[in-house]
Amino acid sequence: MKSYKLAFVGFGNVGQALARLFLRKKAELAQRYHIAVTTVGIATGRHGTAVDPDGIDLERALALMDGGAALDDLSRQPVEGDILAFIRSSGAEVLFENSPVNYKTGQPAIDHLRVALERGMHAITANKGPVVHAYQELSRLAAANGVGFRFESTVMDGAPIFSLFREALPGARLLSLRGILNSTTNLILGRMERGDTFKQAVAYAQQIGIAETDPSGDIDGWDAAIKVSALASVLMGLPLTPDQVSRVGIRHIGPKDVTRAAEEGKRWKLVCSARRVGESVEARVAPEQVPSTSPLYSVEGTSSIVEFETDVLGPLSIVEANPGPDTTAYGLFADFLNLVQG
Ligand SMILES: NC(=O)c1ccc[n+]([C@@H]2O[C@H](COP(=O)([O-])OP(=O)(O)OC[C@H]3O[C@@H](n4cnc5c(N)ncnc54)[C@H](OP(=O)(O)O)[C@@H]3O)[C@@H](O)[C@H]2O)c1
Repeated sequence: MKSYKLAFVGFGNVGQALARLFLRKKAELAQRYHIAVTTVGIATGRHGTAVDPDGIDLERALALMDGGAALDDLSRQPVEGDILAFIRSSGAEVLFENSPVNYKTGQPAIDHLRVALERGMHAITANKGPVVHAYQELSRLAAANGVGFRFESTVMDGAPIFSLFREALPGARLLSLRGILNSTTNLILGRMERGDTFKQAVAYAQQIGIAETDPSGDIDGWDAAIKVSALASVLMGLPLTPDQVSRVGIRHIGPKDVTRAAEEGKRWKLVCSARRVGESVEARVAPEQVPSTSPLYSVEGTSSIVEFETDVLGPLSIVEANPGPDTTAYGLFADFLNLVQG
C-alpha cells in the first residue's frame, strides 16, 4: 500500500466535496489502487487552520464546517505563520488549492502553488487564476522539482478537457474551440425564456447557490473569459489573459430579445470561442442567437459544452450536465490519481 499525505488550502464547497469524495472512495482506493491518504493540514480564510501529522479526522472537519465552527480545535500542534508557512511546514506530498479565484492576478493562489511545488509537492487546483496567470511558470517549476501541476477542474469541472488532450489526443493540434462555459448565464437566459425578467432570473440563480451575491463576474463574462484564456493558454500553448479576450456580457439582453429569438427558432447563449491565427489567438465571449442546428442550442440550465476543431479529427464535443462542487471534486480526485500513478 502506498500512502500519501494531503494538505488542503481552501475548505469551502469544493474542498469539502473533495474531502467527502476521499471518504467515500477510501475502500476503492485501497483495493483497486493500493493507495491510502492522510490529511495532515487544512487551511481556510476565516475558519481557522488545522495541522495533525498523524491525520486529521475528515468527518470531524466536515461536521465543524457544517456547524459554521473553526477548524483550530482539530490541530495537534500550534499553527504559526501565514498560509505559505502552513504549506511549507505541512509535510504534505500533495497540495489541493481551492481558494477563491482572483481574475485579475491569480493571487494568492499562485503563491500557494509555487511554494508547494518548490517544496516538492504535487499541486492540484480548481482555481482558474493560476492557470491563466502562471501556467508556464508553474509547469516549469513542477517539472524542475519532479512533481505535477494539475487543474482539470478549472474548466467544465470534472469533465476531462485538459487530460483529454494530454493523454488521449497526442499530437493533435487544437485549431479552434467554441462553447458554453458559464453555468450561471446559461441558467439566467433559460429562465428568461420561461418568462422571468432579468432581475428575477438572477435572483433565482442566487437563491439556488449558483450565482454569487455580486453576480457580475458571471453576467459580465469574466468567468467565461478566464475559462477561454485557460483553454487557449494550455491547449493551444498561446498565453492569453482574460483582459485580452473580447468580452460582452448578457446585461443588455431582456425577455423581449429572448422571445423574438424563440420566434425565429433560436436561443440566446453566451458563447465562448477561441481561434488560432498564426502564432496568436483570437478569443471572444459574447451572447449569440444560436439556431437549432447548433450543438449549443440544446444545452440547458447549468450544463456546459465545448466543441473542439483539431487538425486530425472532425468536430469533437464534450457536454457536461448539471455540474456542481461534487463534479469539481472529482476533477481534483482524478488529477490526484493520474499524478500518483505516473
Ligand atoms: N464551486 C464550484 O463548483 C467550482 C467549480 C469550478 C472551480 N471552482 C473554483 O474552486 C475554488 C473554490 O471554490 P469554492 O466554491 O469551494 O469556494 P468557497 O466555497 O468560497 O471556498 C473558498 C475557500 O477558500 C478559503 N479562503 C479564502 N481566502 C483564502 C486565502 N487567502 N487563503 C486560503 N484560503 C482562503 C475560504 O475560507 P473561509 O470561508 O474560511 O474564508 C474557503 O474555505 C475557486 O477558485 C473556484 O473558482 C469552483
